[in-house]
Amino acid sequence: MKQRLQKILSMYGVASRRTAERLIAEGRVKVNGQKARLGDSADPDADDIEVGGRPLAGRPEPRTVLLHKPRGVVCTLSDEKGRRTVRDLLPPDWGRLAPVGRLDIGTEGLLLLTNDGALHQKLTHPSHGIEKEYHVWIEGDVPVAAVKAMSLPMVIEGRPVQPARVSVARRGAASFVLSVTIHEGRHHQVRLMCAEAGLAVNRLKRVRLGFLTLEGVPYGSYRELKPFEIKRLHQATHDHAI
Ligand code: URA
Repeated sequence: MKQRLQKILSMYGVASRRTAERLIAEGRVKVNGQKARLGDSADPDADDIEVGGRPLAGRPEPRTVLLHKPRGVVCTLSDEKGRRTVRDLLPPDWGRLAPVGRLDIGTEGLLLLTNDGALHQKLTHPSHGIEKEYHVWIEGDVPVAAVKAMSLPMVIEGRPVQPARVSVARRGAASFVLSVTIHEGRHHQVRLMCAEAGLAVNRLKRVRLGFLTLEGVPYGSYRELKPFEIKRLHQATHDHAI
């Protein structure tokens, strides 16, 4: 499958995407003997790719991981401010596994990471709209009108978002936990929807992605997906069934 060169170099552990873009721009990457240009694509299974005169080393072992991301960890593979990243929570010899979408630094919960480029592309493509369920801890009361507002089409930062499915997951003496299910993956979407509905978010956790949950994965740890789960994800994105 053809993919952007910088994505291939990142998946094969050569460099981050940004550094890969620089290597391409500097003319240090060749595809089938021709100097590549920024924006070029290639198929790592069919094309000869060289970086700095050396052929791309063997395909990394395919891996897709479900991480229970803690709060305070950034969803990138390296951070210029030196903060703890999701990569720090995985074995260093697993190479570069790209996060599938983002969770804010203050958000915890289910995050997939993969070096399977085709799966990554499918899962992040807006047309697939895989269900993402969040638990949202709200301080104080939750007016029915607020739940209703989030269940109707909203405009966030000038752009419409699809209605969320909202229900009360837990009710405390002075707080609520809402279950909020969305299909899109816009930046800060749940926090922005809550703010628009007048709700103050205390804590946010992604508890489900399609058929995948955090069951059996403690806070801060991870597990590799099983082949049948990966197959199901591929199929589900194909059928729009999750
Ligand atoms: N929505 C948010 O506001 N933040 C996240 O991290 C994920 C979804």
